Amino acid sequence: MTHHIVSFRNANIHCYTEGKGRCIVLLHGFLGSSEVWKYIVPYLSSSFKVICIDLPGHGKSDCIGYAHSMELMADAVYAVLKYFKIKKCVLVGHSMGGYVSLAFAQKYSEFVKGLCLFHSTAYPDSEEKKKDRNRAIKIIKTNPKLFIQPMIKNLFSKKLLPYLLNELKLATEIAMQTPVQGIIAALVGMRDRPSYLPVIKYAPFPVMMIIGKYDNVLPANILLEQCEIIPHKTCLFLEYEGHFGQLENPKFTGISIRKFARNCFLHK
Ligand code: MLT
Repeated sequence: MTHHIVSFRNANIHCYTEGKGRCIVLLHGFLGSSEVWKYIVPYLSSSFKVICIDLPGHGKSDCIGYAHSMELMADAVYAVLKYFKIKKCVLVGHSMGGYVSLAFAQKYSEFVKGLCLFHSTAYPDSEEKKKDRNRAIKIIKTNPKLFIQPMIKNLFSKKLLPYLLNELKLATEIAMQTPVQGIIAALVGMRDRPSYLPVIKYAPFPVMMIIGKYDNVLPANILLEQCEIIPHKTCLFLEYEGHFGQLENPKFTGISIRKFARNCFLHK
């Protein structure tokens, strides 16, 4: 594993790479970091060059402004691809990372060979969800712990959680390291993001959706409905998992993404 710091708008973006060959980029979700992929990377790096990026305001990457729009985060991903001189990649985005990958595909589609929405959606926030974001911003300013701990627990399926206490600990530790400014900037960016439905509806590249039956953040039925409109699709339905498949079932999701990525690079 090698670590890199890429300069973007006078800020540092941290990432690490593993493996050689064609490129897969992994983008973590809200309150995550490049570390959440650590159990999946070995399944991918045997065949690909894997780049795991800390999105702005997360992990070891700097904050850039009051709001981190999905487009701004996509520009940071673009800066990383430029740094490595990558011309084509398969993007895998977990939840908020999925919104970023959609923003990236909208702006830089010529770089995209395939897109995997890992517990993510092309829909924008509902009005209710926008209000939740505003409430969360208020709580974060006074008591971040009160928000972070239950939120992270909620990402796991209730039934699996008793067997995943180390994974819960890891996810909580990563989340606790996120600076308050990074949390607020991401909440504002997610709240104000547009609909990315046209990106998946007219995608010239294959799109994979990974859906957890017990996802408490993005309900499975809404994601399954979205799958219908994708022209070249792979839908992976996880029967026991929630919103954190890369920690709840890294082997199955890792092998499935590897197979998908191989097909993407064969797709004309
Ligand atoms: C995430 O896991 O990235 C977030 O829960 C996504 C969201 O809140 O929309």
